[in-house]
Amino acid sequence: MKPEIEIRRMTASDLDPVTAIAGDLPPAPHWTRSAYSIAINPESTPRRIALVAAGRQPGSILGFAVASLLPPQAELETIAVVAESQRLGVGERLFQALAAELKAANVDDVLLEVRASNQPALVFYQTLGFVKIGLRPGYYADPIEDAVLMRLPLIERFSSEPVDPT
Ligand SMILES: CC(C)(COP(=O)(O)OP(=O)(O)OC[C@H]1O[C@@H](n2cnc3c(N)ncnc32)[C@H](O)[C@@H]1OP(=O)(O)O)[C@@H](O)C(=O)NCCC(=O)NCCS
Repeated sequence: MKPEIEIRRMTASDLDPVTAIAGDLPPAPHWTRSAYSIAINPESTPRRIALVAAGRQPGSILGFAVASLLPPQAELETIAVVAESQRLGVGERLFQALAAELKAANVDDVLLEVRASNQPALVFYQTLGFVKIGLRPGYYADPIEDAVLMRLPLIERFSSEPVDPT
């Protein structure tokens, strides 16, 4: 059953659960709590948008996503969903909400890097419309591994403008 969630901005009270969620997921980037704290600070550069998927119970966080913005480009830096709530559409809803915010911030293109072995994430990103645009050999450490570069043109994929019939 799809969980009842609210997608909202990450706040200081989310930092502990978000750090714990990432720590429990081996494929997720393991940022420190202070890295997430920087991500929600509107004064920090680059500017970031950080969202959480909050569950019904107070303090319950099912997932989160962070993107850094350098319009017209943005980088999806991390997206993660707690193991027990995966494959229920939470990641997709998080990304759709993020994409709407990125478009409003004049972002046309979203880029990301993902470990070549992270097959679930590769399929997830392809489902969202990302396409592979390159490889960065040996980009990751512990273990050393290639990064797959992916890109999503937001204008083509998520345009809400009426189609020009001419
Ligand atoms: C990648 C991740 C965020 C996806 O979140 P999610 O909430 O499980 O994804 P969704 O349920 O929205 O999936 C949407 C679609 O993506 C595809 N997909 C997602 N996970 C998949 C998997 N494990 N295997 C194959 N396809 C998958 C499917 O097409 C899915 O639709 P379906 O379930 O109707 O078939 C989640 O698996 C995760 O947190 N992984 C660990 C952290 C990570 O690797 N993050 C990415 C690198 S930062």
